[in-house]
Amino acid sequence: MIVNVNLPQWLDSIIYGKYEAVYEPRPQDVVYNPDQPYDFVKLYLGTYFPRSFAEANSIVLKLFQNIKYKDAMQQIEEINILDFCCGTGGEIVGMIIGLQFLLPNLKRINVDAVDANPDAIRVLYHLGEDLKGVDDIKIEFHIHPMCLFIETGQDFEDFIQMLNREYHYILSFKALNEFVQNRSFSVGNIYSDVVDYLLPLLLPDGALILSDVTTKLDDVYLFYPELMNKGINEALRRNRSYKSIIPHSCYYMEDKCEGCYMQDIFTVTHSRKQMDRTKVAYRIICHADFANTIMDGIRSNNCRAVNRLADKFEPYR
Ligand SMILES: C[S@@+](CC[C@H](N)C(=O)[O-])C[C@H]1O[C@@H](n2cnc3c(N)ncnc32)[C@H](O)[C@@H]1O
Repeated sequence: MIVNVNLPQWLDSIIYGKYEAVYEPRPQDVVYNPDQPYDFVKLYLGTYFPRSFAEANSIVLKLFQNIKYKDAMQQIEEINILDFCCGTGGEIVGMIIGLQFLLPNLKRINVDAVDANPDAIRVLYHLGEDLKGVDDIKIEFHIHPMCLFIETGQDFEDFIQMLNREYHYILSFKALNEFVQNRSFSVGNIYSDVVDYLLPLLLPDGALILSDVTTKLDDVYLFYPELMNKGINEALRRNRSYKSIIPHSCYYMEDKCEGCYMQDIFTVTHSRKQMDRTKVAYRIICHADFANTIMDGIRSNNCRAVNRLADKFEPYR
């Protein structure tokens, strides 16, 4: 069953009213975004921001379907989020709304967000200010957007040094494929390298949510989810202190899997489009001790690596 998310009315009014966002899917143009001009950022805001909102909102709901995870988080009052390549921040707003709904004691969310596109960062800054006046958001939140182009390992290390806290959630949504296309940063597998850099920033009960597009790389017969799974598996085999918790099958198979194709489909409804579809592949990774605790008793038979008949369209469990 595909999950549909409705964009809240107040958010719809802000993006399509105040920011004059435009709904116009342009898959051929959205592939590389650091240099996109303001007009394209408006198109991104009207088309892809709502999808990212729905993805994050649905993924966090799925995470909290794990009762042990939910119990572990119940008392939390303050949450730190890092968003790597945030763009206009659809996933940040989706997380804020989702977490506010899921965590009754939550009082405050602190967000550090980085992206290379100055117009996207500017929109996120102003959007963050707009959200402070919204009646539906009861918690306090602080978004700290940073404009940085991260091209080399040294850039990444400098960026990590700038951050002075650890995080409950580290996000990267639909961005690492752009590093692959631009051949920036990594000579190996970018997903593997980014996971190596970001995992040490997780709090003991933190979760890294790495999500990306499900299309094919330009020049080879390989899909991004395959490259992502291969890279994440490599990183987790090098460093046994962390384990995947979603998809459930990866918790069991990441030691052996060579990187299968997977995807999840969400839809979002807003004033410009009913049930707009978005397809992503994602993994959620935690500290191994925490993962072992919350995965106790959970089984999975939906692994395409060992079960060729497993339905790739079936939502993750
Ligand atoms: C498709 S957008 C996704 C934005 C947002 N995460 C979302 O899901 O809506 C990818 C983002 O990655 C950023 N990006 C790509 N390469 C980058 C780099 N080398 N350094 C920093 N940001 C980069 C782009 O500027 C763009 O905003």
